[in-house]
Amino acid sequence: MDQFLGGTLTPLTREIVRLSVVTSTQAIAFEMAERGTADGTIVVADTQTAGRGRRGRVWHDAPGDSLLVSIVLRPRLNVADLPKLSLAAAVAVAEAIDLTTGLDARLKWPNDVLVNGRKVAGILLESRIVAEPIVVAGIGVNLRQRTFPAELAETATSVDLEGGRAVGREELLEAVLAAFERWRRGLEREGFAALRARWLTLADTIGRAVTVGEHAGVAVDLAEDGALVLRQEAGLQRVFAGEVLASRPR
Ligand code: BTN
Repeated sequence: MDQFLGGTLTPLTREIVRLSVVTSTQAIAFEMAERGTADGTIVVADTQTAGRGRRGRVWHDAPGDSLLVSIVLRPRLNVADLPKLSLAAAVAVAEAIDLTTGLDARLKWPNDVLVNGRKVAGILLESRIVAEPIVVAGIGVNLRQRTFPAELAETATSVDLEGGRAVGREELLEAVLAAFERWRRGLEREGFAALRARWLTLADTIGRAVTVGEHAGVAVDLAEDGALVLRQEAGLQRVFAGEVLASRPR
């Protein structure tokens, strides 16, 4: 396990493990979860040497520039509903960015957080099912970056680049955790309806002509199971996974 530098208990008895340099907060969170750490345990780091992105990508950061957090979850959900936790995380991050920076954060299906059409935050939901499902929700928010590697220059942004209020990592973390706790508990207790409605109000993808893998069409809805619904000439097509690769304004 990467070096453990210390943990603190918040008034909500949420354990937050704060680390300096790690491979990936996801890896630490899974190690802790497999040793029995409680639901809701948080792992935060200043920088990652092997940050993990969606679809096997690397998630880059420079020390101190980003909020890098993983949340251990022992969800009270059917396995089929676990991916909805990533939608809950996306809504929570968008709300927290909005609240703390004043920026208008929007969602690209399923869980990218955009400001002015560029990605400011990403979410990686990973699960392992041993006796019971363990889920780790990983969140990376770009805060202080002024430049990005060439391959990301056209698509990535940060709170600073967008002129948002210069929120500190701690303040943003608290806002993310509070919002995520609300949406996650709502999903577990009352189902997907409210979360689905909120995701739709924050959606950037809906109404756009998009391509997702082999499917092309106009994104028109988020289905009850979290799929993106495309309107095609032949009718409606549900898309369950993939990246929205191309889109143009409605
Ligand atoms: C994406 O590709 O959009 C998801 C990026 C998720 C990055 C975060 S940073 C904190 C946590 N630890 C990781 O290794 N990845 C996630």
